Amino acid sequence: MSRIAYVDGRYVRHANACVHIEDRGYQFADAVYEVWSVFNGRLADTQGHLDRLDRSLNELRIETPMTRPALLVVLYEVIRRNRIKDGMVYLQVSRGAAPRDHFFPAGVKPTLVITARSVDRKVAAAKAETGIKVITQPDIRWGRCDIKTVGLLPNVLAKQAAKDAGASDVLFVDSEGFITEGGSANAYIVDQAGVIRTRSLTANILAGITRAQLLKILGSTDIQVKEEAFSVAQALGAKEVFVTAATSLVMPIVDIDGHKIADGKPGPVATALRAAYIENAIANA
Ligand code: PDD
Repeated sequence: MSRIAYVDGRYVRHANACVHIEDRGYQFADAVYEVWSVFNGRLADTQGHLDRLDRSLNELRIETPMTRPALLVVLYEVIRRNRIKDGMVYLQVSRGAAPRDHFFPAGVKPTLVITARSVDRKVAAAKAETGIKVITQPDIRWGRCDIKTVGLLPNVLAKQAAKDAGASDVLFVDSEGFITEGGSANAYIVDQAGVIRTRSLTANILAGITRAQLLKILGSTDIQVKEEAFSVAQALGAKEVFVTAATSLVMPIVDIDGHKIADGKPGPVATALRAAYIENAIANA
């Protein structure tokens, strides 16, 4: 079965899907995106991602490509046409195609692209059972990481450095030695007092939708959460370290820069939270 993509009003074969060479997403990274996980053919955290998409578009003054109900129809049509049961949906909106000029073009419609792919949840589950290794990298990104733009070159370079070092992700570190977030995920520690720490959203990070759901889930437990910065040293001395994203859900980190976290195995908090997140996502999808 061939994969199908949605490109500006048409469902086309994924292999033939394309946008114009002067699309501003291509030339200026003048575009935003969203990624949903799909459980049993249903989008997880649907509204949260749509709300963040609206916010990203508003911040950059990119026109909304279509109404929310229409967008949902297209999102589900892409899921249906690709027969996705468990997988991911990727959506990208650029400011549109126009002769190259830094100024916003007038009268140009945004370009909307949606793709989907299946994910083998067993592979992800196996990864979560062993946990992942990460390296730290200086956070050289721009000052508006709250906007989910496709300008991801620092993330790409950092993640490739991780791969080259035999790790699977990075933890970005600011100039004061505090961890900001992962290469494509929010970051957390469980400190020695059992408190979960994660950086505050006021500090130039992406407001993860998985993060928001997780904090909601944690609200009904007796685990204490502090939205406070934590340093690399605190992460190295933590009981547990983990990241969250629509792609990796809740992923334990067992090694940072070659130093084992605790006994080098995923801890009980991250493991329980992963199960709780998935259960909640399926129930609410
Ligand atoms: N990335 N921080 C960054 C820098 C991210 O790129 C992401 C997600 C997150 C987590 O956000 P959410 O929980 O809403 O997925 C945090 C997506 C998955 C990606 O780039 O593929």
